[in-house]
Amino acid sequence: MGFGGRVVIVTGAGNGLGKAYALYMASRGARVVVNDLGGAVDGSGGGSRAADAVVDTIRAAGGTAVASYDSVEHGDRIVASALAAFGRVDAVVANAGILRDTSFAKMTDAEWDAVYAVHTRGTFSVVRAAWPHMRQQGYGRVVLVSSSTGLYGNFGQANYGAAKGAALGLAAALAIEGRRRGVLVNTISPIAASRMTEDVMPAELLEALQPEAVAPVVAYLCHDSCRHSGRVVEVGAGWAAGVRWERSKGATSFARAAGGALRDESTPEAVAAAWPAVGDFAGASHPDSTQSAFEPMLAARALVDASLRGDAGVGAATGDK
Ligand code: NAI
Repeated sequence: MGFGGRVVIVTGAGNGLGKAYALYMASRGARVVVNDLGGAVDGSGGGSRAADAVVDTIRAAGGTAVASYDSVEHGDRIVASALAAFGRVDAVVANAGILRDTSFAKMTDAEWDAVYAVHTRGTFSVVRAAWPHMRQQGYGRVVLVSSSTGLYGNFGQANYGAAKGAALGLAAALAIEGRRRGVLVNTISPIAASRMTEDVMPAELLEALQPEAVAPVVAYLCHDSCRHSGRVVEVGAGWAAGVRWERSKGATSFARAAGGALRDESTPEAVAAAWPAVGDFAGASHPDSTQSAFEPMLAARALVDASLRGDAGVGAATGDK
């Protein structure tokens, strides 16, 4: 699977995972914009060394790359670098990230805002700048980067978890908006040894989790042959798995009058009675659209209406006992 000169922007490509993505796709023939503002893990400082070193490595191996030192908060400048150097942009990997870990009880506005600015605002800024070009050419690949913290939560990372959760919602909307113009948008939740994780994982685990093991998944999602959009993939150590929403069959939380007839109102008592069924995932479904989100509600409401009208045999089908 070669990239045949496709132009790929990788943000935060001066270190860790982004560097692995840039090197790997360049080795497969992509022309790469290596974006990195060269700061510390907390986003402080900056410089051109990190991006330059990756560009030098790519060029030394016979590949094609240019550096961009702008913060992802200025996505228009990063996309302008791609257009100036290569005249187009085919893929964006919105990978740049920082950490400002602290418990929510101690979190300052500055810690919240800094993480939001790089992850959420930065991802928005870069993808939005690339979006019209990809739409116009009828081709684009976008990879957003979430995290196990965005999916499952983690102590001390409320700011980061909120931002990484935002990537999921952004990708879900963009996958819908981009599909008709050939712009596919997927999200990864990677795990790898990097300066971001070196203090929080034991050495033997870090050994097993090299960034290079994530790069082929990102390369596939950026490749012409990828036809998927709206997917969420957990990836690490050469393993990848799809993640999706699961919804229980649910239950009607309408109250029942004495004698068992449904009343046209819900009450906290009725909700409490329905709660075991609400949380029972036997026979669960996997909704993948807004429409599929409200279908069962309307179906349940129709059953309740039928029950209230006294239609024969309907009361028992509303799911509650
Ligand atoms: P890293 O710290 O090695 O690399 C992140 C890069 O982003 C750095 O080179 C940094 O200079 C750059 N960067 C930071 N702010 C920037 C900005 N405003 N503009 C441009 N570049 C900027 O971290 P790592 O581990 O490689 O993380 C890459 C991405 O993967 C991040 O989005 C991170 O949240 C995510 N991730 C990483 C995990 C891991 O296990 N390493 C786990 C889950 C998610």
